Amino acid sequence: MTEIDFWSEAWSGGNTPWHGERADAFLRAHFTHFASRLPGNRILVPLCGNSFVVRWLWEQGFDVTGVEVVESALEQLLVRDFSDLAVKHSRAEYIAPRLRLICSDFFSADIERRGFDMIYDRGALVAVEPTLRGRYAARLRELLAPSGIIALESLYFAGDEGPPFSISSARVEELFTGLKREELVREMQETNEPFKSKSGLDYVEKTFQLIG
Ligand SMILES: C[S@@+](CC[C@H](N)C(=O)[O-])C[C@H]1O[C@@H](n2cnc3c(N)ncnc32)[C@H](O)[C@@H]1O
Repeated sequence: MTEIDFWSEAWSGGNTPWHGERADAFLRAHFTHFASRLPGNRILVPLCGNSFVVRWLWEQGFDVTGVEVVESALEQLLVRDFSDLAVKHSRAEYIAPRLRLICSDFFSADIERRGFDMIYDRGALVAVEPTLRGRYAARLRELLAPSGIIALESLYFAGDEGPPFSISSARVEELFTGLKREELVREMQETNEPFKSKSGLDYVEKTFQLIG
């Protein structure tokens, strides 16, 4: 099974335990702390799924681009959160004022606009196979504006099964060498099913940091 097949099956089976309205609590709690530091209003949400954060960021007045490989996830997002907008669909893109949702593999997506002022990563770096992390981080760096910020929520636990795949701070540091890091949150959080049974862990360490 390819990685993409894995995610398509998860979506078609309704097996999306990462999803929820409270999922982006760290971003929402800390956004005012750094929003004024963003050099502009273009935000990229890689591997966005049908996250509530897309609408939330759009409502704050940002120009939001999301990239997601499973089309049904984007369709669900549009029906749930953007049915009030006239969204145009053309060549694997859904477009409306200040909104672009691209249905593609992030690694090969034709994201013609670069220079994003913020890249918000929750459940994306930890979703990609660890062997692809170098490529993934390089892609974020090429898409980030010179003074842009990557807001990253990641998790760390003992074990190498995933997704989600555990990632240490040292590895994050290495992936983004040369960029500043500011850790805003590091805390132990109780796990939920099905992760709890699969991993046997009651807690994982969650980190929310700004990079760039
Ligand atoms: C763990 S979910 C996180 C979704 C979202 N960021 C959130 O917080 O709700 C990972 C998402 O990435 C998508 N995905 C996985 N690999 C991808 C790839 N190479 N390109 C684009 N999307 C991908 C999956 O379909 C899934 O929706």
